[in-house]
Amino acid sequence: MKPKIAQLVGKYPQSSIGSARVSPHFMVRFRRHFQKGGRSMSQKLLVVCCFAFFIAIAVSGDGVNARNAQELSPALKDNHCVNCHARLSNPYRLTSRYAEWHMSSHKEKAVGCDKCHGGNPALKDEKQAHMGMLPPQDAKSSLYPQNLPATCGTCHQGVVASFTESKHYQKLREAGLGPSCATCHVHMGSQVLYTPEETAEMCSTCHNSPNKLLPARPEIPQKANEVMQAIRRANTMVLWADRLIEQAVAKKMDVSDIEREQKVARTMLAEAKVGWHAFNLDPVQRKADQAFETSNRLKDSLRAKLFP
Ligand code: HEC
Ligand code: HEC
Ligand code: HEC
Ligand code: HEC
Ligand code: HEC
Repeated sequence: MKPKIAQLVGKYPQSSIGSARVSPHFMVRFRRHFQKGGRSMSQKLLVVCCFAFFIAIAVSGDGVNARNAQELSPALKDNHCVNCHARLSNPYRLTSRYAEWHMSSHKEKAVGCDKCHGGNPALKDEKQAHMGMLPPQDAKSSLYPQNLPATCGTCHQGVVASFTESKHYQKLREAGLGPSCATCHVHMGSQVLYTPEETAEMCSTCHNSPNKLLPARPEIPQKANEVMQAIRRANTMVLWADRLIEQAVAKKMDVSDIEREQKVARTMLAEAKVGWHAFNLDPVQRKADQAFETSNRLKDSLRAKLFP
């Protein structure tokens, strides 16, 4: 039976498209940043070496993104969106948005608010700076779910090409449906908001829905869950091996062979992440598992060298 995509319009919960929710995972990470700042170097090492694996899994999966709460890069010094919003303490919805961005890799890489929202960051006056900025619900806004691939694509060509060239996107584009970038990434983009279970639930709204939006395919959400877990596990293991390599290098051991293999594992993981955005689940799982297995093996041989 061919699904009639047009019939999905109005049935698929639009409100869940492009809505960023501040999840408990984010708050856990948020706290972790500040706690880290207060720890001594040796404590940090202990945490990283012994518990990276468990903490990262418990917290979310992308423990790779060891952010810090350090100050702004000089490139943002004259960005008045950032300067002014950093000082706002009301209302809640604005201060929490600022804090999310402040903890993100977009802040680290000096990607200011204007890069996604528009407006003029050179102006100090609120009204003037906001000129031309549209709310994300406006179909002309750069942040409207259907416009996000173009907005994010100015910097993330690989991921966005994978996403927009996929059959999935092509089939759903006409109807303006389906997940977009902010469905899974918190608004400033840097973190994946969904746990594997939540991701599967999101896929289920179409692929295994009780009101039969599409022919029931329970294996799709099930597989999506597994693939997300494969990516998380690989993230953590690659990080673990990276840390051990750092230690070996600090001890002036020759680990150039290991470093070369680890580079391959990192590339494989990066490819898995790009492929995920095309919903090609099986190849993504294979790549993530390969990255995991390679780094796992390297981790074991590094431990044998470092702690004989
Ligand atoms: C001088 C301070 C100031 C500057 C500069 C400034 N903002 Fe704002 N911004 C505010 C305040 C205050 C609000 C809350 C306005 C309200 O609730 O009426 C706000 C609201 C917003 C909102 C939420 C709109 C809404 O109503 O929900 C966004 C998004 C935003 N600003 C982005 C930006 C961007 C992007 C820039 C730079 C191009 C910028 N701001 C520059 C003070 C500033
Ligand atoms: C990487 C892109 C990106 C950056 C950088 C970014 N935002 Fe956003 N922002 C979004 C997206 C996408 C949405 C809409 C989806 C959503 O609600 O999460 C959004 C929504 C918002 C909202 C709620 C919607 C509204 O207009 O009321 C506020 C407030 C906001 N952002 C403030 C900021 C501020 C302040 C900064 C800079 C400190 C910033 N954002 C940086 C992408 C970004
Ligand atoms: C002006 C350029 C720019 C724009 C626009 C932009 N990003 Fe980014 N983004 C970056 C940079 C730089 C990084 C840092 C990582 C890197 O070097 O690739 C990054 C990192 C990320 C990451 C990885 C975070 C991590 O910690 O590993 C995600 C996810 C992401 N962006 C999503 C988005 C989404 C979603 C949008 C659109 C709403 C967006 N980005 C818009 C430049 C941008
Ligand atoms: C179905 C959920 C989902 C959607 C939709 C989605 N992403 Fe992702 N994205 C992920 C996951 C999962 C990862 C892997 C995160 C991790 O664990 O590192 C990721 C990773 C990324 C990364 C980091 C890649 C890297 O090599 O580190 C970027 C950048 C990114 N996404 C941007 C986007 C953009 C832009 C869009 C919209 C075109 C988008 N994502 C749509 C779930 C999604
Ligand atoms: C808005 C509804 C919607 C959502 C949400 C959605 N999909 Fe789809 N998906 C579709 C439609 C429509 C098709 C095309 C079905 C067809 O033509 O047979 C499709 C096809 C697919 C296919 C190809 C199936 C096949 O064997 O041909 C896969 C795999 C897939 N989706 C994975 C996912 C994953 C993973 C998620 C969650 C991250 C997801 N989808 C979320 C609507 C959706």
